[in-house]
Amino acid sequence: MRIGVPLEIRSGETRVAATPETVKKLIGQGHQVVIQKDAGVRASQPDSAYEAVGATIGSAADVLGAEIVLKVRAPENTELAQIQSGSVLIGMLDPFDNQNIEAMAAQGITAFSLEATPRTTRAQSMDVLSSQANIAGYKAVMIAANEYQRFMPMLMTAAGTVKAARVLILGAGVAGLQAIATAKRLGAVIEASDVRPAAKEQIESLGAKFVDVPYETDEEREIAQGVGGYARPMPEAWMKRQAALVAEKAQQADIVITTALIPGRKPPVLLHSETVMQMKPGSVVIDLAAGRGDNGSGNCPLTQADKIVENNGVKIVGYTNLASMVAADASALYARNLLDFMKLIVDKEAKLAIPSDDDIVTACLMCRDGQAVRKN
Ligand code: NAI
Repeated sequence: MRIGVPLEIRSGETRVAATPETVKKLIGQGHQVVIQKDAGVRASQPDSAYEAVGATIGSAADVLGAEIVLKVRAPENTELAQIQSGSVLIGMLDPFDNQNIEAMAAQGITAFSLEATPRTTRAQSMDVLSSQANIAGYKAVMIAANEYQRFMPMLMTAAGTVKAARVLILGAGVAGLQAIATAKRLGAVIEASDVRPAAKEQIESLGAKFVDVPYETDEEREIAQGVGGYARPMPEAWMKRQAALVAEKAQQADIVITTALIPGRKPPVLLHSETVMQMKPGSVVIDLAAGRGDNGSGNCPLTQADKIVENNGVKIVGYTNLASMVAADASALYARNLLDFMKLIVDKEAKLAIPSDDDIVTACLMCRDGQAVRKN
């Protein structure tokens, strides 16, 4: 089949949906691959690297007009208009955005959104949320270290001793656990919290202290288990107790990294404005839920999307696309996720063969031949 890989046009997006490594494999499987000019440049992959493995370089119309289009982000209207009816689009297409699903269906295409990959062992190699959240968790610590005007590790020098930074991580899923591991390598003292009880053991196994908000009712205990590996919104009483404990811990912390998300909903507020006002001057907050809350906020109401704001000497970093700041590796992992997913919908003769009984394929299917399939 003819596979097209566009240059991503969303503001701040630097990733690319295929790398020379994955293109080589796709060509080996019998496909033709056309890459838009400069599509990989921001991810350190020049056109020549793609040409060296057998791809051709083309225009936006060439790649968007292919039989299979591999993208990072959901298409803008101008891009969608160029995707041919009957073709297949695969990417991170915002599975909770019904308007976008309807627009893709109206274009007559079949679209797969890999954020909807189930959390099963077989699906792990296609789990784009995990591959990208892992990178975001790492980069969050790098940014925090950069913005923080002190050392991360404890240092004993001839000029005196420097204390280790205290890092508080709220939300210990894929990003939060990677943030713990990264901050640990830098020598920080770490505390972390999550609503899911399974997180306690994972937090402790990485050498951090678990901040426990005990459940007081069966309802709290049941909701906290989450569904399909994801959190559900906790009852208000639990959130209040969590906020009180977070306020106490945040005052002692030098760096707070918040990562809490609930798929298809606004992120929970974990770090209240009053708590930020009580934090030490010079502290840094990295809000990985930035841009998903009201008015571009995140897990903190003071967060502003894609900005660093300062309140009472506390810096709040609201970057919304941290994976894009590690574009080369983020693209490498993402491209492998796509390559693995392609194996499910293309047969050995390199022809499209979309199974109707594969749980991963059906979970990711947003629209098929012009019909919206997923309804939120
Ligand atoms: P996520 O990105 O949706 O959310 C991040 C974290 O925030 C989650 O751990 C969630 O429990 C937490 N959170 C939500 N509300 C909170 C609140 N009020 N207070 C504190 N924390 C809150 O989740 P992510 O990182 O995508 O993964 C969630 C889980 O799924 C993890 O345990 C992960 O290990 C598991 N997983 C399993 C996979 C598999 O089995 N194939 C693949 C990927 C992840």
